[in-house]
Amino acid sequence: MSKRKIIIDCDPGHDDAIAILMAIISPKLDLLGISVEAGNQTLEKTGKNALNIVSYLGKDIPVSLGRGYPLKRKPQICAEIHGESGLDGFTFPNYDKQFDKRDAVAFLKDILLENDKVTLVPTGPLTNIALLIKEHPEVKSHIDEIVLMGGSIGHGNVTPAAEFNILCDPEAAEIVFNSGLKVKMIGLDVTRKVLVLPEIISRMEKYQNKASIMFTALMKVFNENQKKIFGFSGAPLHDPATIVSLLDEETIHFEYMNVEIDVSGGPSYGRTNCDQFNFLKRKPNAYVATKINKDRYWDVVEDCIKRY
Ligand code: BDR
Ligand code: CA
Repeated sequence: MSKRKIIIDCDPGHDDAIAILMAIISPKLDLLGISVEAGNQTLEKTGKNALNIVSYLGKDIPVSLGRGYPLKRKPQICAEIHGESGLDGFTFPNYDKQFDKRDAVAFLKDILLENDKVTLVPTGPLTNIALLIKEHPEVKSHIDEIVLMGGSIGHGNVTPAAEFNILCDPEAAEIVFNSGLKVKMIGLDVTRKVLVLPEIISRMEKYQNKASIMFTALMKVFNENQKKIFGFSGAPLHDPATIVSLLDEETIHFEYMNVEIDVSGGPSYGRTNCDQFNFLKRKPNAYVATKINKDRYWDVVEDCIKRY
């Protein structure tokens, strides 16, 4: 079986960490590299977190830093959910792993040009991917598809209209959605259905391997913070939905439609306007997740955790 080549572009972040954990261990995936943006915390912290995650899990995956601020708007972080470190709840030992010397755009470009049929998996703001497409359009023929966590057909999670990853850099999202590449958008409509309820924590905790220990510690804090802000009884495990959709195509159902990013700067700034009923008769540009099978989802997550 040939492995599917992927690159994760992320802002770790509790749920980003679990997506990385899964991608590293899955026998179906070949994780070529990780690029990092600011998002859940500052770039200094999300970058360090990415290095720590791969070091802790014992895999020598190259990690590269993005520029750390969006194309046009002011940067924002999400410390109220992800804490002071961006990964509150779990403390890593000191590792000496260094960042790749190239900035994220050069790093992504080089890896893509050396490989064919690579799937990009963004789980943070889309700044790195937008800059890559703008500055190096020659990489497009090397990208199989972009499977991203972000957006929402319905409500947002930072404003009534907008989801965090898209709101962090709406202008970048607009470039990505209009790139002509195959884009799969996995938004809050489905990720808010996969909550890390206490029984899910117990289910993953029982393995007591590295992955299980990290999952349990991170998810306990993730849950507490989501409860404080949204009143959820379990945190939505957003970012791993990208990896689950690659590992088990039956888990998430997509519908092809036109998605327009609101870049007006008004109250709906950062909203993904998903024309599910084709009112506007525009050309579809994204496969949008509309349904998720919760049982299959947790089976895939568990299968990755128990492999450590
Ligand atoms: C997204 O925002 C971040 O806080 C999470 O890591 C996830 O990528 C959910 O809106
Ligand atoms: Ca994220």
